Amino acid sequence: MSIAITGATGNLGNLVIQELLEKELEETVVAVVRNEEKAKDQLPDTVEIRYGDYASYDSLVNAFQGIRKLLFISSPSTDDMERVIQHATVVKAARDAAVEQIFYTSFSNADHSTIPLAKLHLATEAAIKVSGLAYTFIRNPLYTEVFINSSLNQSIASGKLVANTGDGKLNTTSRKDLAKATATLLSQNNGQNEIIDLASSQPWSYQELATTLSETSGKTVTYEPVSYEEVLIYFKNSGLPKPAAEFSASMNQAIAQGDIKEPGTDINKLIDQEISLKDMVSKVLTIG
Ligand SMILES: NC(=O)c1ccc[n+]([C@@H]2O[C@H](COP(=O)([O-])OP(=O)(O)OC[C@H]3O[C@@H](n4cnc5c(N)ncnc54)[C@H](OP(=O)(O)O)[C@@H]3O)[C@@H](O)[C@H]2O)c1
Repeated sequence: MSIAITGATGNLGNLVIQELLEKELEETVVAVVRNEEKAKDQLPDTVEIRYGDYASYDSLVNAFQGIRKLLFISSPSTDDMERVIQHATVVKAARDAAVEQIFYTSFSNADHSTIPLAKLHLATEAAIKVSGLAYTFIRNPLYTEVFINSSLNQSIASGKLVANTGDGKLNTTSRKDLAKATATLLSQNNGQNEIIDLASSQPWSYQELATTLSETSGKTVTYEPVSYEEVLIYFKNSGLPKPAAEFSASMNQAIAQGDIKEPGTDINKLIDQEISLKDMVSKVLTIG
């Protein structure tokens, strides 16, 4: 019997596989991918590669044969209706291949969050419950990398960190920490039908980010809180396409209203120490 990971050629899937291999488990690690050549280039020979496309039920049923635990990493499609269909296809295939337990990367606080993508994840959780499969919902928060990335170099250059996050806190977790926690979950004797929320135990704010940017770069960066309407103009002037600008502005508005302010309590039971905001910032800065 084996542990399979979908989305294995992606950022999170790749990191989970690295973490699982470090645990030297007896079970084979199977990467379920739509691009086998890419997977061969990325993954060590000890990982078994199987073809499976979220859009192809038959390929998934084949890929899931003999799998005890399946880590189903959500689809990256930006069309949520397409994602609902893909996700239902994965769940149906897992049921029909008699997978013993499905671990699904859902969304933190999915049943209360006002962030639009929560709906897709709740729908997928519902599909898994309908399937009758034993499950663990791994509710991932927004990745820290969504906010802490190379674009912060522009804030250092201009001395301004502009956002409509108000004084809201962000319980984001880095992909690396999510991967560590997920690999631990996959390697344990799990309870069934559990919900694990991997929100960070140390939420941060944009004011703290500005301070960290200043300290790390040695240049003064000031946080400039703006309204939803103002940030849309700012994004437009920065050349961000309208759909991405609206998505980002809506998400930040939810953050300003406290949507992701609650510290998580599960993550510290699964990993030793979370990567700090300062360390995340240091990794992406190229100036200073
Ligand atoms: N919490 C957050 O802040 C956040 C942010 C972004 C995304 N997400 C969600 O978390 C997931 C994992 O994040 P990530 O950073 O690892 O994303 P990623 O790097 O974009 O990886 C997505 C993976 O899904 C695979 N995939 C795409 N379409 C597929 C299909 N039709 N059939 C089979 N596999 C398919 C991709 O394969 P290829 O390599 O062949 O493209 C890739 O391996 C994303 O897919 C998205 O649902 C969460």
